[in-house]
Amino acid sequence: DSYVTAAAGAAASTHVLIFPFPAQGHLNCMLQLAELLAAADIHVTFLNTEYNHRRLLRSSSGNSLPGRGPGPKVQFRAIADGLPDDRARSAARLLELDASLRARSSQAYRDLLVDLREGSGGRAPRVTCVIADGIMPFAIDIAEELGIPAMAFRTPSASSVWAYYCIPKLLQSGELPIPEGADLDEPIRGLPSFCREARSSDDPMLRFVAEVTAHSARARAFILNTCEHLEPSALSSIRARMPVTYAVGPLHALRSGSESAPARASLWREDRTCVAWLDGQPERSVVYVSFGSFAVMSRKQFLEFWRGLVGSGRRFLWVVRPDLIEEGGWTDEMESMIEGARDRDRARVVGWAPQREVLGHRAVGCFMTHSGWNSTLESMVEGVPMICWPFFADQQINSRFVSEVWRIGLDMKDTCERSTVERMVREAMEGDAADELRRSAKATAEAVRKSVEEGGSSFAAFQRLVQHIKSLAR
Ligand code: UDX
Repeated sequence: DSYVTAAAGAAASTHVLIFPFPAQGHLNCMLQLAELLAAADIHVTFLNTEYNHRRLLRSSSGNSLPGRGPGPKVQFRAIADGLPDDRARSAARLLELDASLRARSSQAYRDLLVDLREGSGGRAPRVTCVIADGIMPFAIDIAEELGIPAMAFRTPSASSVWAYYCIPKLLQSGELPIPEGADLDEPIRGLPSFCREARSSDDPMLRFVAEVTAHSARARAFILNTCEHLEPSALSSIRARMPVTYAVGPLHALRSGSESAPARASLWREDRTCVAWLDGQPERSVVYVSFGSFAVMSRKQFLEFWRGLVGSGRRFLWVVRPDLIEEGGWTDEMESMIEGARDRDRARVVGWAPQREVLGHRAVGCFMTHSGWNSTLESMVEGVPMICWPFFADQQINSRFVSEVWRIGLDMKDTCERSTVERMVREAMEGDAADELRRSAKATAEAVRKSVEEGGSSFAAFQRLVQHIKSLAR
């Protein structure tokens, strides 16, 4: 309530800088937050890397960036990420990108904040708050050093954030690293890939996630893209460490104060021809297949998926990003398989899809996914059952929750043999088991949608967050 009093009249002088980690799954949800804050009468500056900003403008979604369309205005700024332009910013290079941001971008970020703190020549009020990606604690520290209050936005689920918090304790108790040959399903349920793969307590990825998670708790607040209904116990565990934690998700469905469609921020060009193809398909007949922005698979895995999907007898729409198959893995045989299926109207392959629209399409019956948190939320909101093939990081936790806690999908875990793919597609698309999955997916969708409507927990948390941010402008 003290925020509410302090915030009265502070709107016009409130200015937030939002700084996401430069990756697809971080950009879209943080841009949605930016847009919602702008609709709440707050000046918002969104800080991209130059590399990604160019890609965003080139991709078709560039036209839907806030400020270009009719929606609320967000100001964009960009700084260099320090890597050469021809270097891939892939999952394998995550630590390299992180090191480069710390070493090379932090000074430009500091200079920008100093400039914006002074009000930047009167174009906008002085910056009064920073919301930085929680995996970039340096961004939080620099803001606070300059006297600008900082909050941390975490893109994964609350359960994943909580799992990362627990890493030091698991190391201490000797449960990590996991001994070779141990049953990964038994000791700890739904383990992030970093923990499964770590061979020693010095493993760089393990250290990275544990450190950034502990470090980001120095922020004034946590903002999480989840809701109370989905993750009550993880949220209460996190609040024991970080009492001011706002669960405001799913952000893409939260339409507080903004009438326009939520921002899209694709780094790849969306191929909209798949929507016209879906228009011609019967209700709930198509399997939508997408493994997000980072996952990479071998030729063998691709072929297993392909043959399993074909064997299931279902039509499918598959997003094959230009870098989905590992280097050197693409063959003419794969090309002609895709073309053959297209000619028979059995399948469509696109490089990048307008995913939210696809998941909301009546022709889509289930979603074969890598279980990225954004994809999981998007599927949930549309009530589409999932078949999960988690690739890395938090995705193993998400797939476990989808299958065992919310019971709105099936978990393939590490396997993708064609027989498994075929069986799972059948289970998710036909018969009693499919009906049951659909019923619970629908119930979850209803509960999650309620959270983001007026009177719902995420809607209310967002209002409190706005008041908190405005109070910091005093
Ligand atoms: C990773 C992590 O798994 C995720 O949990 C983390 O918080 C961010 O990074 P990523 O591989 O990017 O995830 O997947 P996901 O979080 O699902 O995000 C992918 C986004 O790209 C989704 O918003 C999805 O709608 C979008 N997308 C994907 C498209 O718009 N078109 C496509 O064809 C594929």
